[in-house]
Amino acid sequence: MAGAADEPIARCTYGCQDNTCSGSLADRRDGAANPSVQSYRPHGSLARVLYDKRKADEWLAAYDKRRWYKVDKRKIREDLLDLWIPLGTGPNADQPDKAAEIFLVRSAERSDSLPLQAWHSLARSALSWFISRTSINGLLGRGSMHVFSSEQFQKLMDASGFTGPWHSLVDLGAGDGATTAHVAHLFEKVYATDISPPMRWALARRKFTVLDVERWHQEAGPFNVILCLNLLDRCDRPNTLLNLLRTSLAPGGRLVVALVLPFSPYVEVGERGNHKPSEYLPVRGNGLEAQIIGLIDRVFAPAGLRCLAWSKLPYLCEGDLGQAYYFLDDVIFVLEAQPVTVRPYEFAAVDDGVSLGRNF
Ligand SMILES: C[S@@+](CC[C@H](N)C(=O)[O-])C[C@H]1O[C@@H](n2cnc3c(N)ncnc32)[C@H](O)[C@@H]1O
Repeated sequence: MAGAADEPIARCTYGCQDNTCSGSLADRRDGAANPSVQSYRPHGSLARVLYDKRKADEWLAAYDKRRWYKVDKRKIREDLLDLWIPLGTGPNADQPDKAAEIFLVRSAERSDSLPLQAWHSLARSALSWFISRTSINGLLGRGSMHVFSSEQFQKLMDASGFTGPWHSLVDLGAGDGATTAHVAHLFEKVYATDISPPMRWALARRKFTVLDVERWHQEAGPFNVILCLNLLDRCDRPNTLLNLLRTSLAPGGRLVVALVLPFSPYVEVGERGNHKPSEYLPVRGNGLEAQIIGLIDRVFAPAGLRCLAWSKLPYLCEGDLGQAYYFLDDVIFVLEAQPVTVRPYEFAAVDDGVSLGRNF
């Protein structure tokens, strides 16, 4: 059971709803078990928190990071394997790049700062009565995320055959704009949206032009490149969004979608008020590879979006008193608009059995 006496408890700082961040707890049970250490637990709450963090950080240090950049190719069709772009570094293209390393080091330093973490923890408990977790993070300037570096983004764009123009970029659901900032210098105009007011303030502070969440496609655009990173599982109407994405691309433009898999939608601000999305996105299949194929064939293609390149990266989130950082499997797709030939899926409300609680 999650949170049982001897397990490190993973709780992501960026809206984590369950304890499956940083690999599964099953991974931890396999990798971290040292019965002699586990039998000792300090008394006193601070000592125990620090002890648990040290154990969790040891688990992270021992984790094989090559797994972040790999998929099981035996489970992927050949035509899709041709579109696979490895994004790790090193001889086997399976190691974190410099930008990811810098993020991890900074995150570890911040997570080790007791005054900072104590302040975050206090403020979070007080604010959680009034505003969403994302907005709390925006207000406190914490829970920053890392998806890709400028080099990784350019590699994907090259692989997709994109040669420009590099006139306009919009990053939808950009959060605090940390990932936008990695690629902003490549474009003449950079737009962003976010539903959370503190995140919009953060985006404006970075000098991005912040557009309205509903009218972004009317206020500016069409756009040469649209980023939709880790938003489809967090927004209330993902099908409506996919259609807008297709029609808001400039001719020859590219849409970059990142999605945490296995798919687990969780909506902070939605019409249903129960954290379930109003529209059902048919991401089916058991396991990451099956869901990648399902997304390309059953979600993107019917929405008139053709996959040109794809890859897998760790979605990194700043740590806290629980551990130095958190990660999830993020799959990145570069798509182009196609005329819609297949009838799009009905915009059905989800049934009540839908699983909830993607991690951050
Ligand atoms: C998981 S975060 C992703 C942030 C960033 N794109 C990244 O990949 O790190 C999802 C973000 O989407 C925002 N969001 C949710 N629904 C939205 C919507 N309909 N339009 C714009 N932003 C939305 C949330 O406030 C949150 O900042």
